[in-house]
Amino acid sequence: MTMNRGVRMTVVPTLPTSLPEQLAGPSVWPAGAVLAPGGDVAVGGVPLLELAERYGTPVYVLDEAEVRARARAWRRALPDADVVYAAKAFLSRAVVDWMEQEGLGLDVCSAGELELAASRGFPAERIVLHGNAKSPQDLRTALRLGVGRIVIDSEGEIARLAAQVQGPEPQQVMVRVLPGIEAGGHRKIRTGGEGQKFGLSLANGDAEEAVARVLGQPGLELVGLHCHLGSQIASPEPYARAVRRLVALLARLRDRHGITLPELDLGGGFAVAYLPGDPAPAPAAYGRRIQDELIRSCAESDYPAPRLTVEPGRSIMAPAGVALYRVLAVKRSGGRVFAAVDGGMSDNPRPALYGARYTVRRVGRVSAAPMRATTVVGRHCEAGDVLAESVELPEDLRPGDVLAVPGAGAYHVSMASGYNMTGRPPVVAVAEGRSRVLLRRETFEDHRSRDIGL
Ligand code: LLP
Repeated sequence: MTMNRGVRMTVVPTLPTSLPEQLAGPSVWPAGAVLAPGGDVAVGGVPLLELAERYGTPVYVLDEAEVRARARAWRRALPDADVVYAAKAFLSRAVVDWMEQEGLGLDVCSAGELELAASRGFPAERIVLHGNAKSPQDLRTALRLGVGRIVIDSEGEIARLAAQVQGPEPQQVMVRVLPGIEAGGHRKIRTGGEGQKFGLSLANGDAEEAVARVLGQPGLELVGLHCHLGSQIASPEPYARAVRRLVALLARLRDRHGITLPELDLGGGFAVAYLPGDPAPAPAAYGRRIQDELIRSCAESDYPAPRLTVEPGRSIMAPAGVALYRVLAVKRSGGRVFAAVDGGMSDNPRPALYGARYTVRRVGRVSAAPMRATTVVGRHCEAGDVLAESVELPEDLRPGDVLAVPGAGAYHVSMASGYNMTGRPPVVAVAEGRSRVLLRRETFEDHRSRDIGL
Protein backbone atom coordinates (compact mmCIF):
# COMPACT_ATOMS: atom_id res chain seq x y z
CA MET A 1 0.00 0.00 0.00
CA THR A 2 1.46 3.37 -0.91
CA MET A 3 0.60 5.57 2.02
CA ASN A 4 3.91 7.42 2.18
CA ARG A 5 2.32 10.78 1.56
CA GLY A 6 -0.21 10.04 4.27
CA VAL A 7 -0.77 11.99 7.44
CA ARG A 8 -0.42 10.03 10.66
CA MET A 9 -3.48 10.39 12.83
CA THR A 10 -4.76 9.01 16.07
CA VAL A 11 -4.99 5.28 15.74
CA VAL A 12 -8.18 4.00 17.20
CA PRO A 13 -7.81 0.60 18.85
CA THR A 14 -10.15 -1.80 17.11
CA LEU A 15 -13.05 -2.39 19.44
CA PRO A 16 -14.24 -5.95 19.88
CA THR A 17 -17.45 -5.35 17.95
CA SER A 18 -17.32 -3.58 14.66
CA LEU A 19 -19.99 -1.01 13.92
CA PRO A 20 -21.61 -3.15 11.21
CA GLU A 21 -22.06 -5.98 13.72
CA GLN A 22 -23.83 -3.69 16.14
CA LEU A 23 -26.43 -2.65 13.64
CA ALA A 24 -29.25 -4.90 12.60
CA GLY A 25 -29.28 -6.35 9.11
CA PRO A 26 -26.73 -5.89 6.36
CA SER A 27 -24.71 -2.86 7.31
CA VAL A 28 -24.43 0.36 5.43
CA TRP A 29 -20.99 1.06 6.95
CA PRO A 30 -17.61 -0.15 5.71
CA ALA A 31 -16.82 -3.52 7.30
CA GLY A 32 -13.91 -2.05 9.24
CA ALA A 33 -15.85 0.86 10.76
CA VAL A 34 -15.70 0.89 14.56
CA LEU A 35 -17.26 2.97 17.28
CA ALA A 36 -14.67 5.35 18.66
CA PRO A 37 -14.56 7.29 21.93
CA GLY A 38 -16.79 10.35 22.26
CA GLY A 39 -19.58 9.13 20.01
CA ASP A 40 -17.35 8.96 17.00
CA VAL A 41 -16.98 6.36 14.28
CA ALA A 42 -13.57 5.47 12.89
CA VAL A 43 -13.13 4.33 9.31
CA GLY A 44 -9.82 2.89 8.14
CA GLY A 45 -8.59 3.49 11.69
CA VAL A 46 -9.23 7.24 11.54
CA PRO A 47 -11.97 8.97 13.58
CA LEU A 48 -14.42 10.77 11.33
CA LEU A 49 -14.49 13.90 13.48
CA GLU A 50 -10.74 14.23 13.09
CA LEU A 51 -11.14 14.04 9.32
CA ALA A 52 -13.89 16.68 9.34
CA GLU A 53 -11.67 18.99 11.37
CA ARG A 54 -8.52 18.41 9.38
CA TYR A 55 -9.98 18.63 5.85
CA GLY A 56 -13.07 20.73 6.45
CA THR A 57 -16.59 19.82 5.40
CA PRO A 58 -18.24 18.62 3.30
CA VAL A 59 -15.67 15.89 2.75
CA TYR A 60 -15.89 12.42 1.26
CA VAL A 61 -13.98 9.67 3.05
CA LEU A 62 -13.04 6.55 1.11
CA ASP A 63 -11.95 3.38 2.90
CA GLU A 64 -9.22 1.87 0.70
CA ALA A 65 -9.35 -1.54 2.39
CA GLU A 66 -13.10 -1.76 1.76
CA VAL A 67 -12.68 -0.94 -1.93
CA ARG A 68 -9.96 -3.53 -2.31
CA ALA A 69 -11.88 -6.17 -0.35
CA ARG A 70 -14.95 -5.66 -2.53
CA ALA A 71 -12.90 -5.83 -5.72
CA ARG A 72 -11.40 -9.10 -4.46
CA ALA A 73 -14.82 -10.46 -3.50
CA TRP A 74 -15.91 -10.02 -7.10
CA ARG A 75 -12.85 -11.79 -8.41
CA ARG A 76 -13.45 -14.67 -6.00
CA ALA A 77 -17.16 -14.81 -6.90
CA LEU A 78 -16.40 -15.38 -10.57
CA PRO A 79 -12.84 -16.69 -10.73
CA ASP A 80 -12.98 -17.47 -14.45
CA ALA A 81 -14.57 -14.16 -15.43
CA ASP A 82 -13.17 -10.72 -16.15
CA VAL A 83 -14.22 -8.23 -13.50
CA VAL A 84 -14.27 -4.75 -14.95
CA TYR A 85 -14.81 -1.82 -12.57
CA ALA A 86 -17.33 0.73 -13.86
CA ALA A 87 -15.35 3.95 -13.56
CA LYS A 88 -18.46 6.16 -13.67
CA ALA A 89 -19.17 5.22 -10.03
CA PHE A 90 -16.05 7.13 -8.96
CA LEU A 91 -12.65 7.47 -10.57
CA SER A 92 -9.42 9.04 -9.48
CA ARG A 93 -5.83 8.15 -10.21
CA ALA A 94 -5.52 6.22 -6.94
CA VAL A 95 -8.62 4.21 -7.84
CA VAL A 96 -7.10 3.38 -11.23
CA ASP A 97 -4.04 2.04 -9.39
CA TRP A 98 -6.11 0.04 -6.89
CA MET A 99 -8.05 -1.64 -9.68
CA GLU A 100 -4.88 -2.41 -11.58
CA GLN A 101 -3.31 -3.93 -8.46
CA GLU A 102 -6.40 -6.00 -7.70
CA GLY A 103 -6.42 -7.43 -11.23
CA LEU A 104 -9.64 -5.79 -12.42
CA GLY A 105 -10.35 -4.18 -15.76
CA LEU A 106 -11.95 -0.75 -16.26
CA ASP A 107 -15.24 0.16 -17.91
CA VAL A 108 -15.06 3.73 -19.22
CA CYS A 109 -17.53 5.80 -21.17
CA SER A 110 -15.60 8.87 -22.24
CA ALA A 111 -12.22 10.02 -23.50
CA GLY A 112 -11.80 11.74 -20.12
CA GLU A 113 -12.10 8.52 -18.11
CA LEU A 114 -9.85 6.82 -20.65
CA GLU A 115 -7.17 9.48 -20.45
CA LEU A 116 -7.18 9.33 -16.65
CA ALA A 117 -6.66 5.55 -16.76
CA ALA A 118 -3.93 5.97 -19.38
CA SER A 119 -2.20 8.60 -17.25
CA ARG A 120 -1.51 5.84 -14.71
CA GLY A 121 -0.42 3.35 -17.36
CA PHE A 122 -3.50 1.15 -16.84
CA PRO A 123 -3.24 -1.75 -19.32
CA ALA A 124 -5.38 -0.68 -22.27
CA GLU A 125 -6.31 -4.25 -23.16
CA ARG A 126 -8.22 -4.44 -19.85
CA ILE A 127 -10.36 -1.41 -20.74
CA VAL A 128 -13.89 -1.60 -22.17
CA LEU A 129 -15.38 1.52 -23.79
CA HIS A 130 -19.13 2.06 -23.63
CA GLY A 131 -21.53 4.77 -24.62
CA ASN A 132 -24.74 5.27 -26.54
CA ALA A 133 -23.25 8.39 -28.12
CA LYS A 134 -19.51 8.04 -28.43
CA SER A 135 -17.97 11.24 -29.70
CA PRO A 136 -15.31 11.28 -32.43
CA GLN A 137 -12.85 12.11 -29.66
CA ASP A 138 -13.95 9.10 -27.57
CA LEU A 139 -13.38 6.74 -30.51
CA ARG A 140 -10.09 8.37 -31.55
CA THR A 141 -8.75 8.13 -28.01
CA ALA A 142 -9.87 4.52 -27.65
CA LEU A 143 -8.19 3.51 -30.89
CA ARG A 144 -5.02 5.47 -30.15
CA LEU A 145 -4.66 3.89 -26.71
CA GLY A 146 -5.67 0.44 -27.97
CA VAL A 147 -8.55 -0.37 -25.63
CA GLY A 148 -9.44 -4.04 -25.37
CA ARG A 149 -13.12 -3.82 -26.28
CA ILE A 150 -15.45 -1.23 -27.74
CA VAL A 151 -19.12 -1.92 -27.13
CA ILE A 152 -21.25 -1.09 -30.16
CA ASP A 153 -24.47 0.63 -29.11
CA SER A 154 -26.02 1.72 -32.39
CA GLU A 155 -26.00 0.70 -36.01
CA GLY A 156 -24.50 3.93 -37.29
CA GLU A 157 -21.49 3.49 -35.06
CA ILE A 158 -20.34 0.35 -36.86
CA ALA A 159 -19.15 1.85 -40.14
CA ARG A 160 -17.96 5.00 -38.38
CA LEU A 161 -15.72 2.99 -36.05
CA ALA A 162 -14.53 0.59 -38.76
CA ALA A 163 -13.45 3.51 -40.96
CA GLN A 164 -11.16 4.79 -38.20
CA VAL A 165 -9.35 1.53 -37.47
CA GLN A 166 -5.87 1.90 -38.91
CA GLY A 167 -3.60 -0.83 -37.62
CA PRO A 168 -3.24 -4.26 -39.17
CA GLU A 169 -5.12 -5.76 -36.20
CA PRO A 170 -8.90 -5.43 -36.16
CA GLN A 171 -10.53 -3.68 -33.18
CA GLN A 172 -12.28 -6.14 -30.90
CA VAL A 173 -15.89 -5.18 -30.32
CA MET A 174 -19.04 -6.44 -28.62
CA VAL A 175 -22.65 -5.67 -29.53
CA ARG A 176 -24.81 -4.28 -26.73
CA VAL A 177 -28.07 -6.16 -26.75
CA LEU A 178 -31.27 -4.83 -25.28
CA PRO A 179 -32.67 -8.05 -23.84
CA GLY A 180 -36.10 -6.74 -22.87
CA ILE A 181 -35.64 -7.28 -19.13
CA GLU A 182 -36.84 -4.65 -16.67
CA ALA A 183 -34.63 -4.45 -13.58
CA GLY A 184 -33.14 -1.77 -11.38
CA GLY A 185 -33.78 0.37 -8.34
CA HIS A 186 -35.51 3.26 -10.08
CA ARG A 187 -37.11 3.97 -13.45
CA LYS A 188 -34.23 6.25 -14.43
CA ILE A 189 -31.59 3.58 -13.93
CA ARG A 190 -33.31 0.70 -15.77
CA THR A 191 -31.61 0.03 -19.07
CA GLY A 192 -32.63 -3.50 -20.05
CA GLY A 193 -36.20 -2.93 -21.21
CA GLU A 194 -37.49 -1.85 -24.60
CA GLY A 195 -37.99 1.80 -25.40
CA GLN A 196 -34.98 3.56 -23.94
CA LYS A 197 -31.78 4.88 -25.42
CA PHE A 198 -29.32 2.03 -24.87
CA GLY A 199 -28.46 -1.04 -26.89
CA LEU A 200 -29.94 -2.87 -29.86
CA SER A 201 -33.20 -4.68 -29.42
CA LEU A 202 -33.25 -8.44 -29.25
CA ALA A 203 -37.00 -8.55 -29.81
CA ASN A 204 -37.18 -6.61 -33.08
CA GLY A 205 -34.04 -8.10 -34.65
CA ASP A 206 -31.86 -4.96 -34.43
CA ALA A 207 -29.22 -6.84 -32.42
CA GLU A 208 -28.92 -9.61 -35.00
CA GLU A 209 -28.81 -7.06 -37.79
CA ALA A 210 -25.96 -5.21 -36.06
CA VAL A 211 -24.05 -8.46 -35.63
CA ALA A 212 -24.35 -9.15 -39.36
CA ARG A 213 -23.04 -5.66 -40.15
CA VAL A 214 -20.09 -5.99 -37.77
CA LEU A 215 -19.18 -9.33 -39.35
CA GLY A 216 -19.04 -7.56 -42.71
CA GLN A 217 -16.37 -5.12 -41.48
CA PRO A 218 -12.82 -6.45 -41.80
CA GLY A 219 -11.56 -3.75 -39.39
CA LEU A 220 -13.74 -5.10 -36.59
CA GLU A 221 -13.60 -8.41 -34.78
CA LEU A 222 -16.77 -9.37 -32.97
CA VAL A 223 -15.84 -11.17 -29.74
CA GLY A 224 -19.16 -11.32 -27.97
CA LEU A 225 -22.42 -9.85 -26.75
CA HIS A 226 -22.99 -7.31 -24.00
CA CYS A 227 -25.94 -6.21 -21.96
CA HIS A 228 -26.45 -3.95 -18.94
CA LEU A 229 -29.83 -4.37 -17.33
CA GLY A 230 -29.78 -1.42 -14.99
CA SER A 231 -28.47 -0.41 -11.61
CA GLN A 232 -29.22 -1.25 -7.97
CA ILE A 233 -30.60 -4.69 -8.96
CA ALA A 234 -31.12 -6.55 -5.69
CA SER A 235 -31.60 -10.08 -7.03
CA PRO A 236 -29.54 -12.43 -9.23
CA GLU A 237 -32.65 -13.52 -11.14
CA PRO A 238 -32.67 -10.80 -13.84
CA TYR A 239 -29.05 -11.72 -14.62
CA ALA A 240 -30.01 -15.38 -14.96
CA ARG A 241 -32.80 -14.37 -17.34
CA ALA A 242 -30.35 -12.30 -19.38
CA VAL A 243 -27.96 -15.24 -19.57
CA ARG A 244 -30.76 -17.44 -20.95
CA ARG A 245 -31.75 -14.91 -23.60
CA LEU A 246 -28.22 -14.05 -24.67
CA VAL A 247 -27.02 -17.65 -24.85
CA ALA A 248 -30.05 -18.41 -27.03
CA LEU A 249 -29.00 -15.51 -29.25
CA LEU A 250 -25.39 -16.75 -29.36
CA ALA A 251 -26.68 -20.14 -30.51
CA ARG A 252 -28.84 -18.51 -33.21
CA LEU A 253 -25.85 -16.51 -34.44
CA ARG A 254 -23.85 -19.72 -34.66
CA ASP A 255 -26.58 -21.34 -36.72
CA ARG A 256 -26.97 -18.32 -38.98
CA HIS A 257 -23.33 -17.26 -39.45
CA GLY A 258 -21.29 -20.27 -38.36
CA ILE A 259 -19.54 -18.25 -35.63
CA THR A 260 -18.92 -19.17 -31.99
CA LEU A 261 -18.53 -15.94 -30.07
CA PRO A 262 -16.28 -16.51 -27.06
CA GLU A 263 -17.43 -13.73 -24.67
CA LEU A 264 -20.52 -12.63 -22.78
CA ASP A 265 -20.54 -9.37 -20.79
CA LEU A 266 -23.43 -9.01 -18.35
CA GLY A 267 -22.71 -5.40 -17.32
CA GLY A 268 -23.03 -4.14 -13.76
CA GLY A 269 -25.91 -3.08 -11.56
CA PHE A 270 -25.38 -5.15 -8.39
CA ALA A 271 -27.20 -3.60 -5.44
CA VAL A 272 -25.81 -2.24 -2.19
CA ALA A 273 -27.59 -1.42 1.08
CA TYR A 274 -28.26 2.27 1.71
CA LEU A 275 -30.53 1.59 4.69
CA PRO A 276 -29.92 -1.17 7.23
CA GLY A 277 -31.77 -4.25 6.03
CA ASP A 278 -31.83 -3.27 2.34
CA PRO A 279 -31.38 -6.40 0.22
CA ALA A 280 -27.82 -6.53 -1.11
CA PRO A 281 -26.77 -10.01 -2.22
CA ALA A 282 -23.06 -10.77 -1.87
CA PRO A 283 -21.00 -11.03 -5.07
CA ALA A 284 -20.79 -14.78 -4.43
CA ALA A 285 -24.60 -15.07 -4.57
CA TYR A 286 -24.81 -13.26 -7.91
CA GLY A 287 -21.79 -15.21 -9.15
CA ARG A 288 -23.20 -18.64 -8.27
CA ARG A 289 -26.56 -18.00 -9.90
CA ILE A 290 -25.02 -16.52 -13.05
CA GLN A 291 -22.52 -19.35 -13.38
CA ASP A 292 -25.17 -22.06 -12.84
CA GLU A 293 -27.47 -20.52 -15.42
CA LEU A 294 -24.63 -20.16 -17.91
CA ILE A 295 -23.78 -23.85 -17.62
CA ARG A 296 -27.44 -24.88 -17.94
CA SER A 297 -28.23 -22.60 -20.90
CA CYS A 298 -25.06 -23.54 -22.76
CA ALA A 299 -25.74 -27.25 -22.23
CA GLU A 300 -29.26 -26.79 -23.62
CA SER A 301 -27.95 -25.09 -26.75
CA ASP A 302 -24.87 -27.27 -26.97
CA TYR A 303 -22.80 -24.10 -26.93
CA PRO A 304 -19.30 -23.86 -25.42
CA ALA A 305 -19.54 -21.63 -22.30
CA PRO A 306 -18.36 -18.13 -23.22
CA ARG A 307 -15.97 -16.26 -20.94
CA LEU A 308 -17.98 -13.95 -18.70
CA THR A 309 -17.38 -10.30 -17.91
CA VAL A 310 -19.14 -8.35 -15.15
CA GLU A 311 -18.91 -4.60 -14.63
CA PRO A 312 -19.66 -3.74 -10.98
CA GLY A 313 -19.33 -0.07 -10.09
CA ARG A 314 -21.56 0.79 -7.13
CA SER A 315 -21.07 -2.58 -5.46
CA ILE A 316 -17.31 -1.97 -5.19
CA MET A 317 -17.35 1.72 -4.36
CA ALA A 318 -20.57 2.82 -2.60
CA PRO A 319 -20.10 1.04 0.74
CA ALA A 320 -16.52 2.31 1.00
CA GLY A 321 -17.53 5.98 1.09
CA VAL A 322 -18.80 8.16 3.93
CA ALA A 323 -19.84 11.77 3.38
CA LEU A 324 -19.26 14.20 6.25
CA TYR A 325 -21.18 17.44 6.64
CA ARG A 326 -21.41 20.09 9.32
CA VAL A 327 -24.77 21.30 10.50
CA LEU A 328 -25.23 25.02 9.75
CA ALA A 329 -28.79 25.54 10.95
CA VAL A 330 -31.55 23.68 12.76
CA LYS A 331 -35.10 24.89 12.40
CA ARG A 332 -38.70 23.85 12.81
CA SER A 333 -41.14 24.52 10.05
CA GLY A 334 -44.60 23.18 9.38
CA GLY A 335 -44.27 20.68 12.22
CA ARG A 336 -41.03 19.29 10.83
CA VAL A 337 -37.46 19.63 12.05
CA PHE A 338 -34.86 20.53 9.46
CA ALA A 339 -31.10 20.24 9.85
CA ALA A 340 -29.36 22.21 7.11
CA VAL A 341 -25.81 21.17 6.28
CA ASP A 342 -22.92 22.65 4.32
CA GLY A 343 -23.34 20.34 1.29
CA GLY A 344 -26.37 19.08 -0.57
CA MET A 345 -27.56 18.29 -4.06
CA SER A 346 -24.34 19.58 -5.61
CA ASP A 347 -22.35 16.75 -3.99
CA ASN A 348 -25.20 14.20 -3.81
CA PRO A 349 -27.90 14.59 -6.44
CA ARG A 350 -29.22 11.04 -5.87
CA PRO A 351 -32.13 11.86 -3.54
CA ALA A 352 -33.36 14.54 -5.95
CA LEU A 353 -32.87 12.33 -9.02
CA TYR A 354 -34.00 8.93 -7.78
CA GLY A 355 -35.64 9.50 -4.41
CA ALA A 356 -32.64 7.74 -2.86
CA ARG A 357 -32.73 7.24 0.93
CA TYR A 358 -29.76 7.32 3.29
CA THR A 359 -28.85 6.67 6.91
CA VAL A 360 -27.42 9.63 8.81
CA ARG A 361 -25.52 9.53 12.10
CA ARG A 362 -24.15 12.32 14.27
CA VAL A 363 -20.49 11.69 15.01
CA GLY A 364 -18.07 13.14 17.54
CA ARG A 365 -20.53 14.16 20.24
CA VAL A 366 -22.58 12.03 22.60
CA SER A 367 -25.58 13.16 24.57
CA ALA A 368 -28.49 11.63 26.40
CA ALA A 369 -30.93 13.47 24.16
CA PRO A 370 -33.71 11.32 22.71
CA MET A 371 -33.90 10.85 18.96
CA ARG A 372 -36.47 12.56 16.74
CA ALA A 373 -37.33 12.55 13.07
CA THR A 374 -35.21 15.17 11.35
CA THR A 375 -34.98 16.04 7.67
CA VAL A 376 -31.44 16.74 6.55
CA VAL A 377 -31.36 19.36 3.83
CA GLY A 378 -28.59 20.96 1.83
CA ARG A 379 -27.60 24.58 1.34
CA HIS A 380 -28.72 24.97 -2.25
CA CYS A 381 -31.40 27.29 -3.47
CA GLU A 382 -34.20 24.82 -4.03
CA ALA A 383 -36.76 23.10 -1.84
CA GLY A 384 -35.88 19.76 -3.45
CA ASP A 385 -32.38 19.95 -2.01
CA VAL A 386 -33.05 17.24 0.58
CA LEU A 387 -30.31 14.79 1.54
CA ALA A 388 -32.27 12.56 3.90
CA GLU A 389 -35.97 12.73 4.65
CA SER A 390 -37.06 11.97 8.22
CA VAL A 391 -34.01 10.31 9.73
CA GLU A 392 -33.58 9.74 13.45
CA LEU A 393 -31.16 12.28 14.95
CA PRO A 394 -30.67 13.51 18.53
CA GLU A 395 -32.99 16.28 19.69
CA ASP A 396 -30.04 18.40 20.81
CA LEU A 397 -28.56 18.51 17.29
CA ARG A 398 -27.06 21.95 16.82
CA PRO A 399 -24.96 23.98 14.38
CA GLY A 400 -21.38 22.72 14.36
CA ASP A 401 -22.32 19.05 14.81
CA VAL A 402 -20.89 16.67 12.23
CA LEU A 403 -23.18 14.30 10.34
CA ALA A 404 -21.92 11.18 8.61
CA VAL A 405 -23.73 9.63 5.64
CA PRO A 406 -22.53 6.12 4.75
CA GLY A 407 -23.00 4.49 1.36
CA ALA A 408 -21.58 7.60 -0.31
CA GLY A 409 -18.73 6.13 -2.35
CA ALA A 410 -20.49 5.77 -5.72
CA TYR A 411 -22.30 8.30 -7.91
CA HIS A 412 -21.92 11.20 -5.51
CA VAL A 413 -18.59 12.82 -6.30
CA SER A 414 -18.69 11.53 -9.88
CA MET A 415 -22.04 13.28 -10.40
CA ALA A 416 -21.21 16.35 -8.30
CA SER A 417 -21.97 19.69 -9.93
CA GLY A 418 -20.86 23.27 -9.68
CA TYR A 419 -24.31 24.47 -8.58
CA ASN A 420 -24.24 27.72 -6.60
CA MET A 421 -20.42 27.73 -6.91
CA THR A 422 -20.07 26.06 -3.53
CA GLY A 423 -17.14 24.01 -4.82
CA ARG A 424 -17.03 20.24 -5.13
CA PRO A 425 -15.80 18.51 -1.95
CA PRO A 426 -12.46 16.77 -1.52
CA VAL A 427 -12.07 13.00 -1.40
CA VAL A 428 -9.81 11.66 1.34
CA ALA A 429 -8.64 8.05 1.39
CA VAL A 430 -8.15 6.33 4.74
CA ALA A 431 -6.17 3.15 5.43
CA GLU A 432 -4.41 1.76 8.45
CA GLY A 433 -4.85 4.84 10.58
CA ARG A 434 -3.66 7.30 7.94
CA SER A 435 -5.41 9.65 5.58
CA ARG A 436 -4.44 11.32 2.33
CA VAL A 437 -6.23 13.58 -0.11
CA LEU A 438 -7.14 11.94 -3.43
CA LEU A 439 -9.05 14.92 -4.85
CA ARG A 440 -8.68 18.37 -3.38
CA ARG A 441 -11.59 20.67 -2.70
CA GLU A 442 -12.69 22.80 -5.65
CA THR A 443 -12.00 26.44 -4.84
CA PHE A 444 -13.40 29.74 -5.94
CA GLU A 445 -10.17 30.20 -7.90
CA ASP A 446 -11.04 27.08 -9.94
CA HIS A 447 -14.34 28.70 -10.94
CA ARG A 448 -12.78 32.06 -11.64
CA SER A 449 -10.00 30.65 -13.79
CA ARG A 450 -12.52 29.03 -16.15
CA ASP A 451 -14.37 32.29 -16.52
CA ILE A 452 -12.25 33.86 -19.24
CA GLY A 453 -14.74 36.11 -20.98
CA LEU A 454 -15.49 39.66 -19.92
N1 LLP B 1 -21.84 -1.08 -17.07
C1 LLP B 1 -22.55 -0.20 -17.78
C2 LLP B 1 -22.61 -0.31 -19.24
C3 LLP B 1 -23.22 0.85 -17.12
O1 LLP B 1 -23.92 1.73 -17.83
C4 LLP B 1 -23.15 0.95 -15.72
C5 LLP B 1 -23.84 2.02 -15.00
C6 LLP B 1 -22.38 -0.01 -15.01
C7 LLP B 1 -21.75 -1.02 -15.73
C8 LLP B 1 -22.23 0.02 -13.52
O2 LLP B 1 -23.43 -0.10 -12.85
P1 LLP B 1 -23.40 -0.28 -11.25
O3 LLP B 1 -22.76 -1.60 -10.97
O4 LLP B 1 -22.59 0.83 -10.67
O5 LLP B 1 -24.80 -0.21 -10.86
N2 LLP B 1 -26.28 7.41 -11.37
C9 LLP B 1 -27.07 6.25 -11.00
C10 LLP B 1 -26.46 4.98 -11.54
C11 LLP B 1 -26.30 5.01 -13.03
C12 LLP B 1 -25.62 3.79 -13.55
C13 LLP B 1 -25.19 4.00 -14.97
N3 LLP B 1 -24.57 2.88 -15.56
C14 LLP B 1 -27.22 6.19 -9.50
O6 LLP B 1 -26.68 7.06 -8.80
O7 LLP B 1 -27.91 5.32 -8.96
